[in-house]
Amino acid sequence: MARRIAILPDAVADQIAAGEVVERPASVVKELVENAIDAGARHVRVELEQGGKTLVLVGDDGSGMGREDAILALDRHATSKVKSVADLVGVGTFGFRGEALPAIASVSRFTLTTSEGDGTATELGVTGGRLDRVADGVRQRGTTAAVRALFFNTPARRKFLRSVSSETRAAHEVVTTLALAHPEVGFELHLDGVCRIVVPPGQALDERLAAVWGTELAGSLVPVSYAVGAFRVTGFAQRPGDAKPTGRRTQLFVNGRPFKDPFLIRAGEAGYRSAIHPGDRPSLLLNVEVAPADVDVNVHPAKLEVRFRDRIGVERVVEEAVRDALGVLAAAVHVGDWRPVGVGPRMPEGSDPTQVVNGADLFAPVDLPDSSETASVEPAPGFTVPLLQVFDTYILYEAPEGVVIVDQHSAHERVLYELVMAQLTGADTPAQRLLLPLTLELTDEELDAVEAHGEELRRVGFEAEPFGGRSVAVHAVPSPHSRFDAEACFRETVADLARGRFGGWANRLERFAATYACRAAVKAGQRLDQREMRELLLRLFATDLPPHDVHGRSTIVQLPREELERRFGRR
Ligand SMILES: Nc1ncnc2c1ncn2[C@@H]1O[C@H](COP(=O)(O)OP(=O)(O)OP(=O)(O)O)[C@@H](O)[C@H]1O
Ligand SMILES: [Mg+2]
Repeated sequence: MARRIAILPDAVADQIAAGEVVERPASVVKELVENAIDAGARHVRVELEQGGKTLVLVGDDGSGMGREDAILALDRHATSKVKSVADLVGVGTFGFRGEALPAIASVSRFTLTTSEGDGTATELGVTGGRLDRVADGVRQRGTTAAVRALFFNTPARRKFLRSVSSETRAAHEVVTTLALAHPEVGFELHLDGVCRIVVPPGQALDERLAAVWGTELAGSLVPVSYAVGAFRVTGFAQRPGDAKPTGRRTQLFVNGRPFKDPFLIRAGEAGYRSAIHPGDRPSLLLNVEVAPADVDVNVHPAKLEVRFRDRIGVERVVEEAVRDALGVLAAAVHVGDWRPVGVGPRMPEGSDPTQVVNGADLFAPVDLPDSSETASVEPAPGFTVPLLQVFDTYILYEAPEGVVIVDQHSAHERVLYELVMAQLTGADTPAQRLLLPLTLELTDEELDAVEAHGEELRRVGFEAEPFGGRSVAVHAVPSPHSRFDAEACFRETVADLARGRFGGWANRLERFAATYACRAAVKAGQRLDQREMRELLLRLFATDLPPHDVHGRSTIVQLPREELERRFGRR
């Protein structure tokens, strides 16, 4: 029979971060379960007694080992998984150092029963590192490793073990993590004879999440899927409104391998920006995919930490990925608290924001009374609180929970973004035909952009066609609000598209919508009257209240009443 296990040359062994593999029962669980998964197991069964202090048992239905290989596996640096230094870069399996089994066997009473499914089985017994039993056994294909009396021969380390409940928790977490990393594998966890986890093989990740994190938490998650350049981030992020200060769960993977990195979790949280209270901790499960050469997974003895070549890039893409996932949903955080008094959770009856096509009613049409006095005695439906525009850029008002400051450009951009997305995917926008077409001179890149985005431009209301040389003729334009400058908007949108602005947006339509919304929106520095401000806020609060605009900047800044009271020494 071919020998599959080879002893690593010392040079290779030395390049591998050595260290303490076996720290506590949970690390034994981790090493043994990883071996089972590496062996192609479909089912993995884990049993613990006394938090693993008296027994850790891991059984699998993987490849199993022949007798020779099984004995060899207990040698330091015996591994079937790496044969040269080159293999260490981007190694696809968990194990490669060939030191887990010997390390475990050296500090316990260890037995291994294994069979390749050929009707024979081998039983090995090791006590404190000494192989003292080789026998024929009985077993179906697969391997069972049993670790008894961990650290029986190293009393100092035994003393460092925590309470049974603490060791149990740690081992439970290890199984949960590996179960999330491998939804294709079935797991069972038994604690002192009580079955605590049982998940079938062949689950989808969301099913597996619901099974191990619970259906309630899993139900509060939205999918993350985002790619920029060489990076891709997938997974799940909790809806901002469901995030709480306690009880969150997090899980990171790099190329499917679990690791820990509090700073990357922070980067994910940063994706929420102002969407959550400062104390809230959203649950996150994120898998970062990078080229194997761009991540070093061998910096930690138990392979719990990794090192990225482009750390800053990874943090940025994680933040963007989370923000992107949240951007399109009802990020209805404290909406109730921060709407102006009287604004309900939805638009007043009969005003569907997606129906406002040529949204001339977004701002008061020119022939409506537009002095602020008239407007304030004739409030827009739904709310009456006075609005104050400051620096011709921000809208201030009082809400039940404090003072709210809205960035007018950012708010309008958000409103238009949703509108445009609806237009791009639904019915055409009635455009306003021009008596005299606009003729515009463009650069080659801009002409390419007009051609490439002709359909999107048409859907939002711009009809443009080549007009000889580098000119285009624009025959029809949209009219999203009364202060809209069609020519400037067209020029700027096309220039942005040509320059690849918003290039980070994965989706072509979203990219276009973000570009156009930015250019079509009312700008900072434009004076608005009461009625216009009110219309804008009504529209804003009718969207899935955005915590941020298409650039990821804050749309709304909240100054809590408590904060004011604290600053003025009232509490
Ligand atoms: N459950 C198992 N089923 C089949 N083969 C196994 C099993 N566990 C261990 N082996 C074999 O024994 C070898 C040694 O395992 P060990 O865990 O000590 O090292 P490793 O997994 O190669 O590397 P690492 O030290 O990084 O875990 C493995 O390379 C594998 O060939
Ligand atoms: Mg291993």
